[in-house]
Amino acid sequence: MYQALYRSFRPETFEGLLGQEHIVRILKNQIRSGTEGHAYLFCGTRGTGKTTVARVLAKGVNCKESQEKRPCGICENCKAIRDGIFLDVIEIDAASNNGVDNIRELRESIKYPPVVGRRKVYIIDEVHMLSAGAFNALLKTLEEPPEYVMFILATTEPQKLPATILSRCLKLDFHRIPEKQIREGMRIICDKLGVNISDGALGIIAANGDGSVRDSLSLLDQCIAGGGREVTRQDVLNVLGTSGEEVFIQLTDMMDQGRTSDAFLLLDRILSDGIEVRQFMKDWISHYRNLMIVKFIRRPEDILNVSEENTERIREQSQRMDMSSISSSIIELANTLSEAKWSTKPRILLELCIVKLSSQGDPAGIFNAPTEGKSVEAAEKEPEEKISEEISKKEESPKKNDKKVQGMDVEQIWRKVTEEGKSQKGTFNMLRKCGRLIKTEEGCFVLELDNETALRYAKDNAVFISQLLEKHAGSKLEMECRLAVKDKEEKTAEEIAGELGNSLNINIEVK
Ligand SMILES: Nc1ncnc2c1ncn2[C@@H]1O[C@H](COP(=O)(O)OP(=O)(O)O)[C@@H](O)[C@H]1O
Ligand SMILES: [Mg+2]
Ligand SMILES: [Zn+2]
Repeated sequence: MYQALYRSFRPETFEGLLGQEHIVRILKNQIRSGTEGHAYLFCGTRGTGKTTVARVLAKGVNCKESQEKRPCGICENCKAIRDGIFLDVIEIDAASNNGVDNIRELRESIKYPPVVGRRKVYIIDEVHMLSAGAFNALLKTLEEPPEYVMFILATTEPQKLPATILSRCLKLDFHRIPEKQIREGMRIICDKLGVNISDGALGIIAANGDGSVRDSLSLLDQCIAGGGREVTRQDVLNVLGTSGEEVFIQLTDMMDQGRTSDAFLLLDRILSDGIEVRQFMKDWISHYRNLMIVKFIRRPEDILNVSEENTERIREQSQRMDMSSISSSIIELANTLSEAKWSTKPRILLELCIVKLSSQGDPAGIFNAPTEGKSVEAAEKEPEEKISEEISKKEESPKKNDKKVQGMDVEQIWRKVTEEGKSQKGTFNMLRKCGRLIKTEEGCFVLELDNETALRYAKDNAVFISQLLEKHAGSKLEMECRLAVKDKEEKTAEEIAGELGNSLNINIEVK
């Protein structure tokens, strides 16, 4: 009969265990010195080794070897515990035995000393599932257990346990296993199985397990079952039917940098792998949500539910972006998703959404594409020409506000402002490309923006901009943001959406 990898590769002793060094150190010491406790609480995500370590500890206190070698994993007692037939190690799944009666039964059996081993070990899994009555019954036993009894409680949700239980146990927190260790561990397993697996494939498996060895092993299992002796990166992605954090990080970068065409190519690759468009949108929204969360929470690991490495990647990306672009992307994607639910052409909606998102990062992109006949340089030069015009006007007719910025070049100030802004917020680049500071004849300062997105961005960041302006102009400037007067040929997002909608026979609303 076929046995799942995560069953056949359960470490028998502390040796094969991945990670959890902090726990191994404590338990090894206790076993070596014979100072094991009476009650342990193992907390942590599923698949990080709680049950495994509970059994290793049970072996440790019942192994026939000398103290330093315990648990040996090969003596009679160790083997019996491994096979689940050792009379003095009792495993209880609290999820299915959660009543008072079950605990009463347990209390009855506690009265009898171990039959073969030195200690009677009760492993209670998913202990948070016990009923209130059962907790009370358990508490009494935990208060004064006989010398020969050891309790190992395990749970994924320690916050659901009564404080009275927590205070009677030695609490050990199981951490997610770092990807590197998971990769190494699985490489060893693949070698044993004679499976040739690429580094890329291992990387995706480890990243997707999100720190859970069991989940990573299950995924590896499926990849092997499907393909056989060779496992490639593509095999893993096929099995996953999803795209992995990596893809979203890439795609989001492309949005931020206005790389629309790269994004289309990537999307095409993803969708041709058979990934469902709506699922993809949901996953992408989750990625943006993660980017938002890391902005606010110093230790987001628990909320994100992703591995340490992925958290680090998300944090890095989040730092490069600012909140307004993250939030508008979430809204944009969520709108697209809700429309896509009723559409027969969800892919087109997603593509349109990509166009919108990437033009936030690069407003000089499609919504402001230089109209035919004009070169990119020409389009870029224009603003500067306007500024110098403004400046020469200023020089001709100095007005009331001039004193404050006398002798200073508005263009130069704006350049400094955008450079500093850009170094603090990547998306500030948008203002550099699409905004210019001008001085009206009345002597007021106006920040003129080329499009709605940039205008919204400027308004969202008004305080930040004023601070930078004050710094570089040397005094506070009253400034107003407004949309630049458009060329006739230029189209707005609404107009483009309208045309696109008409030709595709769908209703596209730009929000
Ligand atoms: N730290 C670990 N080192 C090596 N393998 C592990 C580890 N954690 C989990 N596993 C693998 O996952 C399987 C399930 O682990 P288990 O200990 O039952 O997890 P938990 O009880 O924390 O949910 C094990 O049989 C083993 O194959
Ligand atoms: Mg378990
Ligand atoms: Zn042994």
